[in-house]
Amino acid sequence: MQKILSTVNCSFAYNNGQFQLDGVSLDIYPGRLFGIVGPNGSGKSTLLRIMTGILNPDEGGVSLYGEEVKSYHRRQFAQEVAFLPQNPSPSFDLTVREVVGLGRYPYKKGLGLLDKTDELVIDRTLEDTECTPLAGRYFSTLSGGERQRVLVASVLAQEPSLLLLDEPGASLDIHHKSHVFDLLWALSRRGIGVVVVTHDLNLAAEFCDELILLSDGKVVETGKPEEVMTGSLLSQIYDAELQVIKHPLTQSPMVNVMGKKINEGNG
Ligand SMILES: Nc1ncnc2c1ncn2[C@@H]1O[C@H](COP(=O)(O)OP(=O)(O)OP(=O)(O)O)[C@@H](O)[C@H]1O
Ligand SMILES: [Mg+2]
Repeated sequence: MQKILSTVNCSFAYNNGQFQLDGVSLDIYPGRLFGIVGPNGSGKSTLLRIMTGILNPDEGGVSLYGEEVKSYHRRQFAQEVAFLPQNPSPSFDLTVREVVGLGRYPYKKGLGLLDKTDELVIDRTLEDTECTPLAGRYFSTLSGGERQRVLVASVLAQEPSLLLLDEPGASLDIHHKSHVFDLLWALSRRGIGVVVVTHDLNLAAEFCDELILLSDGKVVETGKPEEVMTGSLLSQIYDAELQVIKHPLTQSPMVNVMGKKINEGNG
């Protein structure tokens, strides 16, 4: 199977020298959902920004369909790769429909008007993300979670072959969070590559085909969820008392937080 994107031995340090991402190699394939997990500050967003070409690795390289990411023109790159950053706070004076429509601009020359195909994609994307009831609202009047869903919709409207999302489920309620994961999984099954950064280890275990676990800028483990998510490893990396059991229905790993209350028998 042809890889969509590869990072080969990528290392990167910010100018202040306090954080170093260390020699990350990974391959992203079509038709698969790939999860990046790890504690706060472990380098997940940094890695994603390297994958998008926003940050240049100090060592190693990133290729998209075998070509250096740097060699792509922006528009050409945006037709292949859509990126949802962590906590974007755009101050759009636009309606939800217009914000979702921004995802179509990589296909337009200059400020080209949206055509019928674009409008159909926007309709479908609003529907897929359950944003249709919000379509006429101004983005600036939405709640935090509603904005997040609309931003997910706008990257989906880009119809990329690779989707990179940094915590798309953050600030979403349990219905919308599980809906986003359902949607990302379904998109991967339609043949695109999807990479998602998440702190929700149980959703990651349930939905992702492969995980990479980062800690302090290093890859600690990579593989299927059951290979990466063991109680001893997660407890060590997160410095928390965690127990991993098998989900009774799906057999996927399921993380439980242990603590004084449970350990001392007062649970
Ligand atoms: N622009 C920057 N300049 C200097 N240091 C930075 C910059 N951006 C991030 N860092 C530092 O690099 C480290 C990794 O940050 P990164 O944002 O990749 O972590 P993360 O794994 O995404 O964390 P979180 O789960 O909190 O989003 C952190 O220590 C952070 O403080
Ligand atoms: Mg982050």
